[in-house]
Amino acid sequence: MILIIDFGSQFNQLIARRVRESHVYCQIVPPSINIKTIKSLNPEGIILSGGPSSIYGKNSPKIDRKIFDLKIPVLGICYGMQFMIHILGGSVKKAQKREYGFAELKIKKQEGLFKSVDKKTACWMSHGDSIEKLPKGFTITASTKNTSIAATNNKTKRFYGLQFHPEVHHTPKGKNMLHNFLFDICGCKRTWTMKNFVKNAVSEIQKTVGIKKVILGLSGGVDSSVTALLIHQAIGKNLTCIFVDNGLLRKNEAEKLRKTFGQHLKIKIRFVKAGGKFLKALAKISDPEKKRKIIGKIFMDVFETEAKKIKGAEFLAQGTLYPDIIESQSAFGGPTSIIKSHHNVGGLPAKMKLKLVEPLKYLFKDEVRQLGKTLKLNDEMIWRQPFPGPGLAIRIIGEVTRKRLTILKEVDAILLDEIRAAGYYRKLWQSFAVLLPLKSVGIMGDQRTYENIVAIRAVTSKDAMTADWARLPHKLLGKFSNRIINEVHGVNRVVYDISSKPPSTIEWE
Ligand code: XMP
Repeated sequence: MILIIDFGSQFNQLIARRVRESHVYCQIVPPSINIKTIKSLNPEGIILSGGPSSIYGKNSPKIDRKIFDLKIPVLGICYGMQFMIHILGGSVKKAQKREYGFAELKIKKQEGLFKSVDKKTACWMSHGDSIEKLPKGFTITASTKNTSIAATNNKTKRFYGLQFHPEVHHTPKGKNMLHNFLFDICGCKRTWTMKNFVKNAVSEIQKTVGIKKVILGLSGGVDSSVTALLIHQAIGKNLTCIFVDNGLLRKNEAEKLRKTFGQHLKIKIRFVKAGGKFLKALAKISDPEKKRKIIGKIFMDVFETEAKKIKGAEFLAQGTLYPDIIESQSAFGGPTSIIKSHHNVGGLPAKMKLKLVEPLKYLFKDEVRQLGKTLKLNDEMIWRQPFPGPGLAIRIIGEVTRKRLTILKEVDAILLDEIRAAGYYRKLWQSFAVLLPLKSVGIMGDQRTYENIVAIRAVTSKDAMTADWARLPHKLLGKFSNRIINEVHGVNRVVYDISSKPPSTIEWE
């Protein structure tokens, strides 16, 4: 495994992605990690990440200098390189001006990190300070016009430094450089595969849980579904899933889930139909945050009542992913890492005195999808677009009523049908319909109508932090409008949302 020390760079997750894509396991840890823990993790190499600080800054992050005595290869990137050079006796000069963007890298010798890399190649720079003097044993291995020490190494000690970012796409040969580090310099093996992950995770779960019972809140999304499959593989019938049908799901969604899990996968699952309870509690409520709170509370009540029926349950399984953990652990090394809990079950473990099992907590979303494939989850489930916990309640602007819910479910089903048929479902991060609390005048046949308006939202995104409205073909937009107005009673106007996030959000509420 490779250890990545997090000095706060916005590109840290990318470094980890690149290493994992190369089938080498890695973990991102804060610089406060102690040497004993590092030794116990037994890494084959250490990557010191970039970061926004200057090593002269008052609170600049630092890691114990003993890591340089471990005889493990170290790759410092940007701030990570400056930190290494500074601590080993070199000097870093404060820059007058930041260097940002593309630069041409001139490589001295095609060896080490630069084996099989062209002597002239582009690299992506983003730094203020630069190296002024190298410590004993280090040599310059590459330069750019503005940065004479753009790369350096101490071959004997296997310490390498890059002033630029090999992990970003803008450094086209960055991947080769990282491969050289992983395989030639650290001697890593390509052992990180989902098959191996399953083997290890299953034995880990068995060790943690033993013969005790586990409960899991199934939402129908890919994360909780994959968690269920993995835990089922480890402990079989000692896993019970609880699926709360809150009546706010897409059309036929609950039935589909019942089919996938109940028949095909033979997992013990309790379906609780609670739509009536949710609708009753939501009556006359228009405020989005109030809706969320009500839905969260009813969910907890229903889930807890059901979970109490499972005698002897000691564990609660959750589909927490790695980005949640990375984002909540402090880059500068807070002593604890606070883990964000799942929207739907937050607070339950403490309330019910359950211990947590989170087998996906070191995986990225695309790895979870690969894992789903390895565990033979069907494609439809694997590629499901994200769906919010409060469901259609936050896509019905204003009050949620049974009638409005029925209208939105029909509209949404037609929309997804057309999006799938046009081959857009997987290309879009999310696509859905929103029912507005407004009516507009229309004409159907010879009759004047006064009916509902729906808005269509389709966005592309990588992580939901930012999103762009999808440039769908006009012909497809036309199909949405024709089918929806013709087929759904109570809708006479369809509009398309052309706002990006920020400044808008993906959901309307
Ligand atoms: P926004 O609307 O903030 O949404 O751009 C970002 C992502 O989060 C989802 N979302 C939620 N998910 N409970 C959830 O489980 C919620 O209350 C909630 N609100 C928004 C949204 O669908 C998008 O993927």
